[in-house]
Amino acid sequence: MNTKFSYIDLIRRRSSRRSYKPEVLSDKIQEQINQIIVTIPAGPFGTDSSFRLIRKSIAADQKIKLGTYGFISGAQYFIVGKTVSGTEAFIDFGYRMEWIILKLTGLELGTCWLGGTFTRSEFARLVNLQENEVIPAITPVGHATEKRSIRDRLIRLGAGSKNRKPWLEIFFNGDFNHPSDNKQIGDYSTVLEMVRLAPSASNKQPWRVVQSDNACHFYLQRTAGYSRMFPAIDLQQVDIGIAMGHFELSARELQLSGHWQIADPGIVHPEGTEYILSWVFE
Ligand SMILES: Cc1cc2nc3c(=O)[nH]c(=O)nc-3n(C[C@H](O)[C@H](O)[C@H](O)COP(=O)(O)O)c2cc1C
Repeated sequence: MNTKFSYIDLIRRRSSRRSYKPEVLSDKIQEQINQIIVTIPAGPFGTDSSFRLIRKSIAADQKIKLGTYGFISGAQYFIVGKTVSGTEAFIDFGYRMEWIILKLTGLELGTCWLGGTFTRSEFARLVNLQENEVIPAITPVGHATEKRSIRDRLIRLGAGSKNRKPWLEIFFNGDFNHPSDNKQIGDYSTVLEMVRLAPSASNKQPWRVVQSDNACHFYLQRTAGYSRMFPAIDLQQVDIGIAMGHFELSARELQLSGHWQIADPGIVHPEGTEYILSWVFE
């Protein structure tokens, strides 16, 4: 397998970058980015969203807070996506934008998910945002500085970015009473590991997966109080879409066929946890 085009490899390589070299991207790279943006696969629910590469300069000695937290410096370009509000749209948005981010990782470009409301920002004007549309997240794109800035390292420390929840906390076998480790899962162990490595807002990792005989069922376990921060954008639904993207790309790469389907197993689930969608094995 050509590792450059292995999504599993790209998922392992990606991490959020917040400091950039303030360089102009070559025409060739801009063209490659624009090519990626027009070939994004549809999300699991097939809702519409669109993405644009835009130029917006942030000086290297400027620290701009753009998302919910964290500062970006040196970035000269951003990818801005828009969609309509709603559960399915936010999930698809996460799925599709993460696909772009992985492709950009393959071009050796740095990125960082920045979630929040950009409805009244300059970004909204640049993408001609309509009244019924929202910008759930943006990402800077460019050549990241070789070393992370002290500020970036502090943000990563604060969000615990290097850490991921252990398997037994997020993956289950049959029902929520039976936590699963990677030895019990078989073929799907690499696929679920790729879910575990997914980025999420404030690194909250709200996804939960229950494997049954014929499917992997995805649930969202909400972080208490988190949705109040940005009532207009459900960042944890975006997180679920990202995780589902990692799941499908890795499953397909490992030739594990299946498809997304509403197939709620109706099992008892913890409070604050909601069923989202299932990957049904073929
Ligand atoms: C939907 C979403 C929104 C995010 N919003 C921000 C943000 O506003 N500011 C920021 O600095 N990082 C943001 N992040 C990045 C996360 O903090 C980061 O993905 C997480 O800590 C894991 O670190 P990693 O991406 O380096 O693996 C966001 C990530 C996601 C998925």
